[in-house]
Amino acid sequence: MSVHKNVKKVTTHTLQEMKNSGQKIAMLTGYDFSTAKILDASGIDVILVGDSASNVMAGHETTLPITLDQMIYHASSVVRAVDRALVVVDMPFGTYQGNSKEALSSAIRIMKLSGAHAVKMEGGQEIIESINRILTAGIPVMGHLGLTPQSIYKFGTYVVRAKEDEEAERLIEDAKALENAGCFAIVLEKIPANLATRVAQMVTIPVIGIGAGSGVDGQVLVVHDMLGINNEFSPRFLRKYADLHEQMTSAFQNYIADVKSGSFPNESEQY
Ligand code: KIV
Repeated sequence: MSVHKNVKKVTTHTLQEMKNSGQKIAMLTGYDFSTAKILDASGIDVILVGDSASNVMAGHETTLPITLDQMIYHASSVVRAVDRALVVVDMPFGTYQGNSKEALSSAIRIMKLSGAHAVKMEGGQEIIESINRILTAGIPVMGHLGLTPQSIYKFGTYVVRAKEDEEAERLIEDAKALENAGCFAIVLEKIPANLATRVAQMVTIPVIGIGAGSGVDGQVLVVHDMLGINNEFSPRFLRKYADLHEQMTSAFQNYIADVKSGSFPNESEQY
């Protein structure tokens, strides 16, 4: 008996077909089983197990501290929940920048231990050797250009990237290099919309934007941000689809009040 449910799974080829036919790709981050189950049942195309888990799950200031084992823990929780979506896992800081052999062994660990479908790596031509080696092993790679949070200490701030011509030209060259290497998609983060549109028209692979305007092939947001869980983060590119900060606070306060007043549990809530 097959253990696989009868659903048409999203693959890297599906994403390419979506770009070719002009259908937009919807991607959100996910880090845990319960949320990933809801995301998958809602019809999300791609779940990114982002290293933003370092921020939103673990409370770190940056994405740098999260480890390979922690990413694998999050990724395997997501994979167990998913029937349809493509699961992409961020390779965390320090697991691929050193050399391409180390990069390959990190990617293999992610794929073997989590059961995910692809990895994502931040950077362009400077990591192309690692990307090549990982692709040669049959592991699909999603690129990530523009604001790359693992380099935050080099940039100094989270402001919009590639506003000047020189950086924009470099980004274009990096996007071409990722496509030529065989990446199946590229994330563009926080760059001017017209530059992102240019890149999406120039490369044949899907381009997924965050803070990169509407002229790309799909969008990604951090799930905690779009649900409004953190009420202190409101960049211009973020559309909040819920105010869970408000709803969760009110639910917690109501529970506390009910416990303190003795109204919870009532007769029908006990044995
Ligand atoms: O880690 C992450 O959540 C990401 C997205 C912001 C694209 O890389």
